[in-house]
Amino acid sequence: MIGEREETKSEIIECFARHVSSGKAEFFTGAGINFVAGEREGIYLTDLDGQRLINCHCNGGVFNLGHRNPRLIAALQRALTKYDIGNHHLLSAPRARLAERLAALSPGDLKRVVFGVSGGEAIDLALKLARAHTHRPGIISALGGYHGHTGLALAAGDEAYRKPFEPLSPGFTQVPFGDLQALEAAMSADTAAVIFETIPATLGIAIPPDDFFAGARHLCDRWGAILIIDEVQTGLGRCGQVWGIDTYGVTPDIIVTAKGLSGGIYPITATLYSDRLDPFLHDNPFIHISTFGGAEVGCFVALEVLDILEEPGFLEHVRAMAALFEAGFASLLEKHPAVLVEARQRGLMMGLKLADPGFGPWMTVAGFQAGLLTIYANNDPSVIQILPPLIIQEDEAQQVLAILDGMLRGLEAAFC
Ligand SMILES: Cc1ncc(COP(=O)(O)O)c(C=O)c1O
Repeated sequence: MIGEREETKSEIIECFARHVSSGKAEFFTGAGINFVAGEREGIYLTDLDGQRLINCHCNGGVFNLGHRNPRLIAALQRALTKYDIGNHHLLSAPRARLAERLAALSPGDLKRVVFGVSGGEAIDLALKLARAHTHRPGIISALGGYHGHTGLALAAGDEAYRKPFEPLSPGFTQVPFGDLQALEAAMSADTAAVIFETIPATLGIAIPPDDFFAGARHLCDRWGAILIIDEVQTGLGRCGQVWGIDTYGVTPDIIVTAKGLSGGIYPITATLYSDRLDPFLHDNPFIHISTFGGAEVGCFVALEVLDILEEPGFLEHVRAMAALFEAGFASLLEKHPAVLVEARQRGLMMGLKLADPGFGPWMTVAGFQAGLLTIYANNDPSVIQILPPLIIQEDEAQQVLAILDGMLRGLEAAFC
């Protein structure tokens, strides 16, 4: 079994390069990052040689509740005494109960749920449903946005990821994120759906103007189009409310949730959709199939995730930690004006905009040395994404800020 024998890191890297991805191995080792994840607990991720990082990437929210959260492990263990994955064709108590809980947490009439395994799959279903419901082809998304690497999700995402696989599904148009005029100009009677992340992480934690989502809602209503909000990263407490879109006071027609629902323990995703969109799936209940979607043991983990999210004080804690980071970032901005230009934040969905696109990758590498996992935004490498576990405590948040301070000092010394 893995871990029973002392394996050297170089053995693992060599095995990974030979059988999994030679390109990834070359990329990381070439950048001086020889990190191979070993033990993990709470906010920490440790490599096989014992080097410990505070996880401020969290796989975009997978580890919202920390690594190996004991309550989630216990939920999975309890579920395994009686359940397994289940049969996706049959009716299911865990799926029914989890859907009921998600519906209760969602705005408006988003009362219905289709479960999946990955975020991309859940986005694909959202787009399929919008097209089937409206009988229209058009999908509008954000330039530089990210919705996953499956078929329709890929077509809605950034050109860099889709170009080699063309031709993809037709009907996709992209507009600059946050630009209502561009959205208005792109919409027509052919528009089935408008899809945006609440805060696009891959685009550099881009915070839209306050009226953007209300405006998008208004345009969708005017054209009879479906508003899909990708909450794969921003949902489940990350922005200080249950859904990031709640912080804008807007009710979409579809919300997609993924990463954090798994608790980092069992993959499960959900597409929550309005009652109004149900007739198509009612008439065609077997038209979208996912063998592992909504696996029953995963439902128990997700239910525990929601229990934790709904506990009194949980969201208040997220907002208190967000305020602490906000104050810390203000001080970092004052101390490091030559390299740090902006702090972007909605709750604990955070990013630091640096003065040069080369600085993000530099900070990511520096983080591995300094004890902080932070990854630059792929579609804007001048931004480092900072998504700590939502359970981070005050002293740990101060530690993150102190590490960032040191890394920014190093950046100044290297480039200024
Ligand atoms: C905003 C967003 N949407 C969708 C996805 C796709 O999720 P998955 O990788 O589970 O397919 C991701 C993954 O990073 C994401 O960040």
